[in-house]
Amino acid sequence: MVANKSLLILPGDGIGPEVMGQVRRVVDWFDRRRSVTFNISEGLVGGAAYDAHGTPLTDETMADAMAADAVLFGSVGGPKYDDAPRDLRPEMGLLRLRKEMDLFANLRPALVFDALIDASTLKEDVVRGLDLLIVRESTSGVYFGQPRGVETLPDGRRRAYDTQEYTDSEIQRVAALAFELARQRGNRLTSVEKANVMETGIFWREIVTKLHADSYSDVELDHMYADNCAMQLVRNPKQFDVIVTDNLFGDILSDCAAMLTGSLGMLPSATLGAVDDSGRRRALYEPVHGSAPDIAGKDMANPIACLLSFSMLLKYSFGMDEDAALIDNAVQNVLGSGVRTADIMSKGAARVSTSVMGDAIIREMDKQAA
Ligand code: IPM
Ligand code: MG
Repeated sequence: MVANKSLLILPGDGIGPEVMGQVRRVVDWFDRRRSVTFNISEGLVGGAAYDAHGTPLTDETMADAMAADAVLFGSVGGPKYDDAPRDLRPEMGLLRLRKEMDLFANLRPALVFDALIDASTLKEDVVRGLDLLIVRESTSGVYFGQPRGVETLPDGRRRAYDTQEYTDSEIQRVAALAFELARQRGNRLTSVEKANVMETGIFWREIVTKLHADSYSDVELDHMYADNCAMQLVRNPKQFDVIVTDNLFGDILSDCAAMLTGSLGMLPSATLGAVDDSGRRRALYEPVHGSAPDIAGKDMANPIACLLSFSMLLKYSFGMDEDAALIDNAVQNVLGSGVRTADIMSKGAARVSTSVMGDAIIREMDKQAA
């Protein structure tokens, strides 16, 4: 029995609040059925916070996130905010959380469920049984590098620039975590950069190679250029176990890997910081999908990615592996029974709404716990 774990829920924009509504039902289920008490607080992030407070994340909410044992995040953004000032765009709320909580490792698993094999745009034999994990660096690189900006040159031309940068310790900590995770899985790590073109790429490869030799030589390591990795992900994704890469390549490759599974609506993620002196690890959990403004408010969105993010939260933040497995199994069984939201619909299946998918998963959890 686990008591009084504090949880900050940030539903955000678009379909965020709808899918989070289903997570709230699952949290309540745990409160009732498993004697687990979560102290839950809720806050605004993204466009929702911008509308209410003129900023995508208030200092109060930032402080709540720092204090919470774990943060569960929905999604941010939407066309309504296209003209918001650059530093007040909804996405900035998420980037500030990652940066200030120092959440340097974004774990993005791509797992193909047998029941959904038809949902992938790739041939069945290419993706059946796929289970890979992308570990994306998430507090540095070109997302945060200075200087950045737009300037007007003496001759009147304008010039925009960003800075790609990594320190040795930033590469070491994310690579070390990726090696550790590889040890718990297939014991293989692919490190991805552009060492053929970029200084940061050469440096990344050098640091990972040395860390491997010093501390993780039992793990099988290979290096791959990012463009080749994109191609290999589509050609033969099952060659990968764990991939570690920088912030920008990780953003792109994880969308690519996600789509191998058929729908972004299925994929959870965890973003982890270092373990502090008290043994606590700051962490934020979020579905990989975005705010999907086109279907927001229609009770159509797939809540599974957000539910599986909560499952990752139970596992990584609270060590509640059995409870996490209960959610995972319930999802698998519901999919196996042919219940589908629109994004993963296939012939002969029953198409249901967000809330009916939630009903089905909770019924299945009841069955398993009985
Ligand atoms: C992601 C998203 C974010 C990113 C956006 C919303 C800032 O695409 O989590 O992959 O680019 O990191
Ligand atoms: Mg992305």
